[in-house]
Amino acid sequence: MTKTSFTRRHLLEIGTGITLVAAAGVIWRANERGVIGDGGNEPYLPWEIWNDPAHRGTPLALVAAGVLASNPHNTQPWIFRVGDGRIDILADTSRNLGTFDPYLREMHVGLGCAIENMVLAAAPNGYAVTVAPAAGSLLDIGGRNEPVLAATLHLSRADAPVDPLYDAIPKRHTNRNPYDLARGFPGDLLQDFAAAPHDEDVKLYLFRGGAAYETLGATIISATDEIVADHAMIEDSHRWFRDGPQEMARERSGLELDTAGLSPALLAVAKILPALPAEQSHGTWAKQTRDTHVPTAALLGLIAARDRYDRAQALAVGRLWQRIHLAAGAAGLAMHPLNQPVEMIDRERQLGAEPKAEARLAAVTGDEAWQPTFAFRGGYAIRDAAISARRSVETVTEIA
Ligand SMILES: Cc1cc2nc3c(=O)[nH]c(=O)nc-3n(C[C@H](O)[C@H](O)[C@H](O)COP(=O)(O)O)c2cc1C
Repeated sequence: MTKTSFTRRHLLEIGTGITLVAAAGVIWRANERGVIGDGGNEPYLPWEIWNDPAHRGTPLALVAAGVLASNPHNTQPWIFRVGDGRIDILADTSRNLGTFDPYLREMHVGLGCAIENMVLAAAPNGYAVTVAPAAGSLLDIGGRNEPVLAATLHLSRADAPVDPLYDAIPKRHTNRNPYDLARGFPGDLLQDFAAAPHDEDVKLYLFRGGAAYETLGATIISATDEIVADHAMIEDSHRWFRDGPQEMARERSGLELDTAGLSPALLAVAKILPALPAEQSHGTWAKQTRDTHVPTAALLGLIAARDRYDRAQALAVGRLWQRIHLAAGAAGLAMHPLNQPVEMIDRERQLGAEPKAEARLAAVTGDEAWQPTFAFRGGYAIRDAAISARRSVETVTEIA
């Protein structure tokens, strides 16, 4: 009897000990990743100091707006070389997505987004600006180690009117949460999108329903499943997933859990658990795409170019996307690129595989003269988006 009770007490103590050790392990792990405690606000400061008086009226004010642009996987693939009356925008090709973006097409679309923010910031800082894109084909950019000139902004002093989209720059965020389908998408905003100034080699498609909407939604889902089944693609994507605030404080780029569009409860659990391997994190993404992103999209859209691998056209596509996203944000609408079908077009081309993704998107537009290069959804989100990290102006600027 005494012995039994002794043993049980010991078992209880051992059990409690194991629980404590396990709990300590989770806390240690969480602490190591910086989940507990303050990872620091530094990676998010560029959103607050984007119109810092110290930069006002100088080319650095344009760079500060540029770094807040939409860009693939938050790779921030840019270098800004500031010279006399000019800013060269260079593609930092080392910050590539590998098989996820084998022709640096998305990288250049992201650079176009940065250019649009910079153009919007020119007038408020006393500049007139002209944009000179580098000519040629993305298919001819070989290496991934040297910066490649994408465009030059030529600046001159001027008193020009300020575009109202300028004020929306620090409020624009990619929103991966569910959208409220019942609230639809306002028609007047669609008209604003359609009227947005853009290059004549770029075309916008907007769908709120009907066969094209259904086909595009199905294409986004099937392309996501194909990406998840492609080991190289998800490993290349996974390299840009940051494992907690401490890693983010070091890198100030890439994707993090807070911006993944998880519910608050799931986010809290995900932050404490060990980081998921690429298969599982991308499996979760495919499930979100199938169950949430596509079914709650009040709007699905495409941006197409005459030639999706033309360098200047890729920038022009980014400029239009940035304007659309800023206009939506200013009107209280959420937006979210879902570019998986075009990522699969690139991948099939790289592998020399049958161009199935190309055929699926051609079925959406019904016009092979236009090559879709960017897909997105829009609507009223059920939750605000978290803001994503940015490297500082100083880190990404070279003075020529
Ligand atoms: C060319 C391009 C492709 C993108 N593709 C996707 C995508 O397929 N899925 C997604 O969730 N976000 C996508 N994004 C959004 C970026 O991940 C996002 O802009 C980046 O993480 C920075 O976050 P922010 O937009 O909130 O500033 C894309 C952005 C660009 C410019």
